[in-house]
Amino acid sequence: MACLWWFLHTLLLAFVTTNALSPPPPVQCNQTGCTLYNSYGVWGDRKDCHAPTVIYPTTEEELRLTVANATQNNLKVKVVTQFSHTIPKLACPSPATQSGGAVLISTEKYTSQIDVDVANLAVTADSGVGLRDLINGVEAMGLSLVAAPYWEGVSVGGLISTGAHGSSWWGKGGAVHDHVIGLTLIVPANQSQGYAKIIRLVPHDPLFNAAQVSLGMLGVISKVTLSLERGFKRSITYNFTDDSDIEDQFGEHAKKHEFGDITWYPSKHKAVYRYDDRVPSNSTGDGVNDFLGFQSNFILVSKSTRAAETALENARNVNGKCTMASTFIGYKKLIANGLRNSLIFTGYPVIGHQGKMQTSGSCLYSPTTRIDTSCAWDPRIKGLFFYESTAIFSAQNFKNFILDVKRLRDLKPENFCGVDIYNGFLIRFIKSSNAYLGQSEDSVVVDFNYYRADESSSPRLSQDVWEEVEQMAFFKYGARPHWAKNRNLAFLDVSKKYPNFNKFIAAKKKLDPLNMFSSEWSDEVLFGKGGTRDEGCALEGQCVCSEDRHCSPQKGYFCQHGLVYEEARVCRYSQSTIT
Ligand SMILES: Cc1cc2nc3c(=O)[nH]c(=O)nc-3n(C[C@H](O)[C@H](O)[C@H](O)COP(=O)(O)OP(=O)(O)OC[C@H]3O[C@@H](n4cnc5c(N)ncnc54)[C@H](O)[C@@H]3O)c2cc1C
Ligand SMILES: *[C@@H]1O[C@H](CO)[C@@H](O)[C@H](O)[C@H]1NC(C)=O
Ligand SMILES: *[C@@H]1O[C@H](CO)[C@@H](O)[C@H](O)[C@H]1NC(C)=O
Ligand SMILES: *[C@@H]1O[C@H](CO)[C@@H](O)[C@H](O)[C@H]1NC(C)=O
Ligand SMILES: *[C@@H]1O[C@H](CO)[C@@H](O)[C@H](O)[C@H]1NC(C)=O
Ligand SMILES: *[C@@H]1O[C@H](CO)[C@@H](O)[C@H](O)[C@H]1NC(C)=O
Repeated sequence: MACLWWFLHTLLLAFVTTNALSPPPPVQCNQTGCTLYNSYGVWGDRKDCHAPTVIYPTTEEELRLTVANATQNNLKVKVVTQFSHTIPKLACPSPATQSGGAVLISTEKYTSQIDVDVANLAVTADSGVGLRDLINGVEAMGLSLVAAPYWEGVSVGGLISTGAHGSSWWGKGGAVHDHVIGLTLIVPANQSQGYAKIIRLVPHDPLFNAAQVSLGMLGVISKVTLSLERGFKRSITYNFTDDSDIEDQFGEHAKKHEFGDITWYPSKHKAVYRYDDRVPSNSTGDGVNDFLGFQSNFILVSKSTRAAETALENARNVNGKCTMASTFIGYKKLIANGLRNSLIFTGYPVIGHQGKMQTSGSCLYSPTTRIDTSCAWDPRIKGLFFYESTAIFSAQNFKNFILDVKRLRDLKPENFCGVDIYNGFLIRFIKSSNAYLGQSEDSVVVDFNYYRADESSSPRLSQDVWEEVEQMAFFKYGARPHWAKNRNLAFLDVSKKYPNFNKFIAAKKKLDPLNMFSSEWSDEVLFGKGGTRDEGCALEGQCVCSEDRHCSPQKGYFCQHGLVYEEARVCRYSQSTIT
């Protein structure tokens, strides 16, 4: 069913002009106050993410005055963006009862400046500027931004704050913050300084490495300067092949291809190697990478896909999931994952300008007369709802992680169909960084997405397997969690995984002595204390289970050992014990 819809919908999208539903604004206010949601619509209605007011400054001076007013009135501050695409509740203020009060500062309207300095190969942008606008501004001057996340629905301030990255071990590497050559921070100050001051940081300043990746906890970033290169083109080819020696290939692949990545579909024994290299700017080609997962979907299609997945969950139909995964992977191969040579995909390699090959998000844009398409996960349409786990490994641990996952896969390959419906395991590369909350060594990043139930109390098919992979990654192999993704348990003891963690805390004490930019939510992430240990806490990743009640005994899920990583404690379905 879902597959049929999927095909139908792409056919339709290819030939019909449609209109899209642009993402909802993340902050919604009424007379009683404001609620912050992320782009998936979580937080606000599940657990408190509220503040009495939100301010929309448009200039750096207005930003400064807003911070000054907060200092003067003893208010907590959290910065929010037009996009709010981060999954952990970093941007949520503490409940009003626990602090004098709080204010949200939105950068949504602080977007006017994109200054390209052609002579010095640099661009300075207001922190609210969207990544797509930044890239277009830079490319228009014949230059290119080398690193960016694959998703363009993010702001300059937000993306560096959480360590967002693409994929590269070359040059300065795939993480955007390693291309930052200056930034401006607005921090609280004493009365004599007007209660807030603007400080400019460049790479040799002692505070710079703290500010490169700061989770919004040091102050408000007002401007970011990024280094650029002369405009260039890229050539991309996907090789859909088998996964037999992926554990020995990944390092070579990263060394050989500047922007290479690998998508691994364990249930299918398939690996898709992305051969992605820089080519001279006079190479022929004006291709586009319009990544399939970020394209507009008919609302009806997203809803049907979700409904089909939920029906398979409820029926405990693992094989149905495998069929769904096969169809999707086949389709991705057919359309090269959204690569297009011109209007359509006609064959490899696809060559195009850097600005159109690195990052995409066509579901974001919205002609407004009729409404029938959106991003697949738009919270208003009951579309896709999923977890995103992202683990960052030191390169030398990664081989053994893959081998463990293969062992787990080989016990019952169908258990992995649930991730293969999404993007399997997306494997990318980040170079070592001086940022205190960046990667201190060359690293391999793995993302995997999977079904999340509407109700937090509903267990998921094969969830024991995901939990085991998650615990293997974060506990057995000490992987670091991506700051903008993951479930709570991934942050357990995260501070011990960053050798310069204490330097970050020292910088915070200096810049934000009153802890204005902290909240219990952001502390939960930064200090990795782990969540509550209530009934069912393991189902949504709030805890690692130690007793059955942390799972869902009434639905047949009990706390048991991992199958390959014995030390793991996972919620596993066991039919015989249901009465
Ligand atoms: C579909 C999708 C695909 C993604 N793909 C990738 C990917 O390929 N690679 C990757 O690394 N990540 C990816 N991400 C994660 C994404 O890059 C991060 O969530 C990013 O931080 C979001 O930016 P934002 O502008 O929405 O920031 P927000 O989520 O709004 O904010 C993030 C944090 O930064 C703080 N902040 C924001 N602006 C400022 C400022 N001006 N001053 C101080 N603090 C500030 C906020 O308080 C918050 O703590 C993806 C996310 C989605 C939803
Ligand atoms: C205002 O929003 C809050 C939080 O979202 C909600 O609980 C409340 O019912 C809303 N009030 C009105 C008058 O709409
Ligand atoms: C300053 O903060 C106070 C207290 O929250 C608020 O009433 C006032 O409107 C704020 N003023 C400005 C200019 O933001
Ligand atoms: C203001 O000055 C006092 C004493 O010098 C210091 O302790 C405090 O941290 C300062 N406050 C800010 C916001 O800088
Ligand atoms: C694809 O990868 C396989 C395995 O590494 C290799 O044998 C084959 O030559 C590759 N195909 C192309 C077109 O590069
Ligand atoms: C591109 O430029 C290089 C040197 O500038 C030249 O040698 C080459 O022939 C050009 N290629 C094309 C396709 O024009």
